[in-house]
This record gives sequence, C-alpha cells and structure tokens, in this order.
Amino acid sequence: MANSTNSGSTIDTGATRGSWGTRVGFILAATGSAIGLGNIWKFPYITGVYGGGAFVLVYLVCVVIVGLPLMVAELMIGRRSKKNPVGAFRALHAPNTPWQATGWLGVLSGFVILSFYSVVAGWAMAYIFKSIAGFSGTAEQIQAEYTALVAHPTASIIWHTVFMVLCIGIVIGGVRYGIERWSKILMPTLFLILVGLMGYGLLYTDGGAESLNFLFKPNFHKLSAEAALSALGHAFFTLSLGMGAMLTYGSYMRRDESITRDAIAVSALDTIIALIAGIAIYSLVFSFNMDPAAGPGLIFQTLPVLFAETGPWVSVPFFVLLTFAALTSGISLLEVVVAYFIDERRWSRTKATLILGGSIWAFGLLSAIAAITIPFRGKDQGFFDVFDFISTNYMLPVGGLLTCLFAAWVMKRADKIAEFGSKGIIFQGLIFFLRFVTPLAVLIVLLHGLELLPFMDYSK
Ligand code: PFF
Repeated sequence: MANSTNSGSTIDTGATRGSWGTRVGFILAATGSAIGLGNIWKFPYITGVYGGGAFVLVYLVCVVIVGLPLMVAELMIGRRSKKNPVGAFRALHAPNTPWQATGWLGVLSGFVILSFYSVVAGWAMAYIFKSIAGFSGTAEQIQAEYTALVAHPTASIIWHTVFMVLCIGIVIGGVRYGIERWSKILMPTLFLILVGLMGYGLLYTDGGAESLNFLFKPNFHKLSAEAALSALGHAFFTLSLGMGAMLTYGSYMRRDESITRDAIAVSALDTIIALIAGIAIYSLVFSFNMDPAAGPGLIFQTLPVLFAETGPWVSVPFFVLLTFAALTSGISLLEVVVAYFIDERRWSRTKATLILGGSIWAFGLLSAIAAITIPFRGKDQGFFDVFDFISTNYMLPVGGLLTCLFAAWVMKRADKIAEFGSKGIIFQGLIFFLRFVTPLAVLIVLLHGLELLPFMDYSK
C-alpha cells in the first residue's frame, strides 16, 4: 500500500500516543471490548425472553446492517484522526463545531456505563468464589443468594472495587503493554472455556438438541416489534458502538491494516461467541427443564440451581469466563475516558487512569448500593437500572446516530477513501448504508427508547 506508514495520516498524531503491536493484538483487544456481559449474560437472557430463533435471526441482520457499517465508520474516524473521541471529531472537521459534542457524549457514556458495568462484573467475581464453595440447598435458597448479594452493599462494593482495581491496573500499562498484552491472555482463555462448556452442553447433557432448536429454528409467530427493536438496540451494545470505544481502539491501529476486514472479524467473533454462550447455557437450562425466559436472573439465579447438580468444575470456569469477558470490556470503557485526558488535557497515563478510574469507582457506588433509589419513569428505581436504561436506550443510540451521520455526510471523502483503501463497490455500498439505512435503523431504536414510535403501544 502506498502510504502504509504509521505516521501517514495528515493529522497531528502527537508523539506519545500508543499503538497496537500486532494485527492479532488489535483484533483480540477489539473483540475483547465487544465480547462482554452483553454476550454471556444479556444475549442469552433476552433471546430467552423473546422466544429464540426468530429473535436470533433479526439480531444477525441488525449486526450486518447497523453494527458492521458503524464499526467501520468508528475505526475510520479513529485511525484517520489518531485521537480520542472529542479530538477526533474536532480534527476531522472545523474546530469548535457541535460535532465535538458527539465525542463528549462518548466520554460521558464510557464513564456512566463502566460505573454500573463494574457492579455486575463484581457479582460475576463473587460467584467464582460461591462456585468454589459449591451451591447447595433448595432452588429457592440458591436463588435467594443472588438477591442477598445485590441487596448487600458491602459485598457489592468490595467486588466493584476489586474489578475497578483490575481495570485500572491494566489500563495504566498502556495500549500495548496493558490492554493488548492482557487481551492476548484473557481472550484465548475465554474462548477455550466457552468451547469446553459448549462441548459439555452438547455432549454430556440431554438439552443440546433442544438448545440448538431453540436458537436456530426461527418461529416467527413469537417475534414481536418489541423483540426486533431490542435486537437492534442490543447490536449496538454488544459491538461496543456509539460511544467511541471502537473509535479509540481504531486510533491506535496501524495504517497498513484493512479496516473492513478487521471490522468483519470482530463482529463475526462477537456474534459467534454470543451464539456459543447461548448453546452452552440453554443446553443446561433445557436438560433440567428450566424456564428459558427467566430474564436477567438467568445467569445468577437459574444457572446456579443447575450448577448445584453439575458441580464446581462447570460453574467455576463459567464465572471465570464471565469475569474475563467483563474485564476486557471494562478496560475499553476506561480507555475511552483516559484517552481523552491524555490527548486533550496532556495528563500522563498514570495520572489520568488513577483519577478517572477512581472517579468512576466512586460514581459506581451509587449503582452498587441497591438501597439508593430515585423516581424514574413512574417508579422508584435503583441507579443501576436508571443508568443501564439511559445509556442503552438514549446515550448509545444518539452517539451512534451522530457518528454515522458524521462519517457519511461530514467527513471528507478523501479521508474516507484513504482509510478504507479503495473507492470500489464495497466502499460505495458502505457509504449508502451509512447515509440512509444505518441512521434510519438507529433512529427507530432511539424513538422506541423515547416511547415515540407510532405503531407501538406504550400505555402498558
Ligand atoms: N460490548 C460490551 C458487552 O457486550 O458487554 C459492552 C460495552 C463495552 C459497550 C464497551 C460499550 C463499550 F464501549
């Protein structure tokens, strides 16, 4: 390639910015960001709630028409500008235009999402130790352990603290020697554990066939508009889009890599892992005739009842897997915030990581203490639910919509071609999607979040 140097960009890169050591390193880090609680906790449970196969199919379509174009757009903006989200929008357009606000929203989203994400990740860690001790008692007693953990502020705070310390420890090491190095260890381990658990589910339980049927045989009678909209919203969250995480990771990418190829690899891996997690979990659920539509408690309440039968050698790897997945996503959330302070405020990485990581930890206490509630959407709710709702339904879709419109209509064509590497038919197709299809889809998610879609009934 003609301009395949690390510093080939026309934009000032700053001398001290990090970069990925290898392509595999980048793919593992970006996949690490994408694969998280969204894949192993949320995807299986929402698939259960929305009835299986048809939902999975819609979700796959959403990944292709919304996720993939947006991921290419974020990587393009990041690598072209070689900046954090705020600096990137400024560098690729005139300074001090409203587009910068997209970057601000991204940094804020990273801050808010990590603050509650860390609390769930903390529960996953607590469950590693519960698994080692072994689950016992009646189904009700085992399920009550989860309610007790959530309600117990000290335990939640301790695990939230441990998780944040781990994130801070990794991000302080920098792009190559922190994030990349740890992704190279955690991601292959995660993959091995997951394949092992899927193998166990398919070969050693009698729920394997039913689980494959449930996930891959679409039954369109069960598909509601609500389900389709959730699939679209989830495509965002699971691919870490709409808040500048992929943009930031793209800013550390080398010029000689194909953005399209890497975006396809990351989206495909993320999707495959979600499906494997689904197979592993549903094989267990069906083999014990449990309810697939248990909701958010599927992993922390339903599975432990089954783990009491299977023993710790299934449950310990499962919660280690969940923790690793959460950790590689947590570090990407922290990196978005830290990159802003390093690039724009000229803070050292150590100072930025400690101060911002500490602030996110403190803010996360609101979510860790379930007893603190505020009135939200007509009822008293904990901060955990409020932040989860606001970020998934409003912040990420707004960020995604603006990013998509920026990439399609504002970013210079020459900049896009330089990053994309060609202006052939695939490039034209991408631009068409980014101009019309992706923003429309994202707008629909957003209007649904605001309860403004005309064909939906929001009175319930
Ligand atoms: N993609 C992560 C998951 O599926 O759990 C969550 C996430 C990470 C969202 C990073 C956004 C982000 F920037």
